[in-house]
Parts: sequence; C-alpha cells; structure tokens
Amino acid sequence: MKRDFLSVRDFTREEILESFELAMDMKKDRAKYAEALKGQALALIFEKPSLRTRTTFDIGIQQLGGYSLYLSPAEINLGKRESVYDVAKNLERMVQGIMIRTFAHSIVEDMAKFASIPIINGLTDLLHPCQGMADYLTLLEYKGKLDNSLKMVYVGDGNNVAHSLMFAGARLGVNVTVVCPRGFEPNLNVFRTATEDAKVTGAVIEVTNDIPTGVKNADAVYTDVWASMGQESEAAERRRIFMPYQVNSKLMSYAKDDALFMHCLPAHRGDEVTDEVIDAANSVVFPEAENRLHAQKAVMYKLMK
Ligand code: CP
Ligand code: NVA
Repeated sequence: MKRDFLSVRDFTREEILESFELAMDMKKDRAKYAEALKGQALALIFEKPSLRTRTTFDIGIQQLGGYSLYLSPAEINLGKRESVYDVAKNLERMVQGIMIRTFAHSIVEDMAKFASIPIINGLTDLLHPCQGMADYLTLLEYKGKLDNSLKMVYVGDGNNVAHSLMFAGARLGVNVTVVCPRGFEPNLNVFRTATEDAKVTGAVIEVTNDIPTGVKNADAVYTDVWASMGQESEAAERRRIFMPYQVNSKLMSYAKDDALFMHCLPAHRGDEVTDEVIDAANSVVFPEAENRLHAQKAVMYKLMK
C-alpha cells in the first residue's frame, strides 16, 4: 500500500529513528544512494513561497537519481482552475510522488486520499513535518541522544512549526515546552494528541505563558516568525504582542549554558530573534537548514523506494 507523509505521526518512533540513521548515512556517503530512486519524478506543488523546502526537495530527489518538476500557484491554482481531485488523478499518471506546500491541511489530506502515489507535506497552516524531522535529526547530532533527559523549548507563536515539534518530540520521547503569549497557544487537538503520544514514550509536553519557568533547563531554544505565511496583514499587531517573547541574550540566560539555538528560517532578525543569538556559537540554524536535505531524502526513500 502506498504511504504518505502528512504528519510526523505517519511514522512510528522506530521509523523516525530509522529515517535518521538513513539520513546520516546519506549525508556521509551521498554516492551510495545516487541511483536509489532512479528515474522517479517528484512534482513540487507550491502555493506559498520557499527557499529551503524547494531547494532541498529539488536537489534531494536529484541526488537519489530522480528528478523534480516545480509547479507554482500560477500553473495549478489548486481548487480554482482545477479541483484537488482532478489534479491528483492527473499527476498520479505522470509522476511517482507529490510534495505539496499549501494553506489548509485538508488539501494535503484530500490529495493523499485521491492519489495512488505518495504525498509529502511540505508545510500547511497546521503542520510542517519535514521541518520537524530535520530539527530532531539536528538535535540528535548535537546532543547524541533523543530521550526525556532533553528539553526542547519553543518560544513564540503556537503555529505549524510548533505543532510538528510537539508531535515529533512526543513520538521520540523528548520533552517539549511551548512558551507563548496568551491567546497564541498551540492548537488544542494537537496538544491533546501529542500528550497522548507522549505517555507511550515518557516525554512531557507543556504549554506556558511564563518565560523564565518555561525556558529553564532548556537544551534547545527554538523560535519561528511571529506572522506566518498568510498572516501578513496581522504582522504589526503581532509584533506588539510578541515582542516580550523575543529570543535575546536575556531569554537565553534562563536556558542551560550549552543550550542550542534553533530556527526553521526564514528569520526576521530583530523581531523573534536578535542577531546576537542567531549568530552565536551555539546557534545551529544553518546545519539545521542543511538537514532538511538529508532528512527529506530519507523520507522520500522510505515512501518511494
Ligand atoms: N523552513 C522552511 O520551510 O523554509 P522555506 O519556507 O524557505 O521552505
Ligand atoms: N510558520 C512559518 C514557517 C515557515 C517555514 C510559516 O508558516 O510561514
């Protein structure tokens, strides 16, 4: 049966850890996998902009011996020029996999339901699972383990990136605390599901509005933009609300001395993070961005091989 990757929860804990092993091997020995997906085509549907996701899927499939096809909003105009069903039914006859970045999460779910080929979620308003994979691969590389002796602290908007960090932390057994202004907490269903998953692995998933207690003992401090793609009109209002939650040296001082700084990027320097923090020696934002490539190659391999 074909498999999709719409959420980190589509993989078991064992499958996530296997993907990380595979990703690290692919990173070490690219040539070994040069024909792994030989001749396979991946359609890249983007309804929002991207630097990392587009580049890493495009280069990633080529490094596995396949090739990609970029489809911009102008080409497809999903759901307006043509229904999601019809797009799925066309593309399944032409390519072997689809990566899609869009707005409503239901669009990727519909695409997965209608298409007979694997669908990979390249970000929706609800989730960013490929980012979550790269984030914990990076944590594993820098901390040498993934268990409940680690505390991942996400500071900022309870958004798609926060949700995937919670899901992946819960699956892997890493504690996750979300620190956010009142009214910007993560989605309640995501929180409840992550809490259930965490019972199996022994992780603790917490949400708080209090910065010092939330950030205390953090092994990694993570942030993201205050206004996500599609929320541009709220940017000024959000800046006012979120400014007390800026990740600066004072906020980092509540974390462990060796805490990593992480960010999915793009960063708005001077808003959610200061230059001092993002450019510090313990900032891993660029290795984290590179790991999008390796983590997604492992996901593509698992779904398309
Ligand atoms: N982190 C991330 O998904 O970056 P892009 O929006 O540039 O793809
Ligand atoms: N939360 C951000 C992530 C960008 C990679 C957004 O959705 O715009």
